Amino acid sequence: MKIRIPATSANLGPGFDSCGIALSQYLNIEVLEEAKEWKIVHTLGSDIPSDSTNLLIQTALKLAPDLSPKVLKMTSDIPLARGLGSSSSVIVGGIELANRLGNLNLSQKEKVQIATEMEGHPDNVAPAICGDFVVASYVDGQVYSVKHHFPLCDVIAYIPDVHLLTSESRSVLPASIPYKEAVQASSIANVMIAAILNGNLPLAGLMMEKDRWHEAYRKKLVPHLDQIRNLSQKIGAYGAFLSGAGPTVLILTPEEKTDQMVQELEKLPISAAINVMSIDQEGI
Ligand code: HSE
Repeated sequence: MKIRIPATSANLGPGFDSCGIALSQYLNIEVLEEAKEWKIVHTLGSDIPSDSTNLLIQTALKLAPDLSPKVLKMTSDIPLARGLGSSSSVIVGGIELANRLGNLNLSQKEKVQIATEMEGHPDNVAPAICGDFVVASYVDGQVYSVKHHFPLCDVIAYIPDVHLLTSESRSVLPASIPYKEAVQASSIANVMIAAILNGNLPLAGLMMEKDRWHEAYRKKLVPHLDQIRNLSQKIGAYGAFLSGAGPTVLILTPEEKTDQMVQELEKLPISAAINVMSIDQEGI
């Protein structure tokens, strides 16, 4: 049995804790055999536990405590702690593992609800489960979400060679913002979403760069954001924004601009990986 969970990018700028897209890089889980104890065969580094303390197994056992131990194989090309939903992919993987091995028959909606309760916000787990573009609200303990097709474009991920924990990146956010500012921040997000639904990526990209919820506060942790945004505007990409809590920056480009954008990014004096991806339309 195999499970494939896509990477995700949360927020898309102004859609803070609400909007996300699924991307074409994956966490792969394979059930190899029955065993006396849980074991995960992986090459993801010594920091990642290969026994039952792994988040994947912990999550699965929370939902289905009676699952019999297995040997699992785990491979992933989602970089850790870079704002591409690596921990969400493991939570979603654990839920799906329990669902399939324990015959839980969870609906997509139930999976999104459970995963959001575990993660605390829906903007990574919902697109990882549903695929494509998802707008979600976690309100009064209930998740309400809508999946929609994201317009065709290339997605360039500029992934600096440094880890940034979501907790650290959330710790710099203010406890509150003035009412007027919140109204403006919400109107920017509304236009971004409407533009995506209309297939109008130039307008969506413009709005993605006008976020008022989080990017300004996080800039000190991601000093490369402005530089990349300037390049993206010069080249005529649709928009550049912080992927989730960072430090990765995503740049949405029309296909014909991708090579030029990558060449410019390669010139930056920062140690980083540059991956060109597309939108994953399926989820798990
Ligand atoms: N919306 C979350 C944040 C995503 O920006 O903190 C973190 O993965």
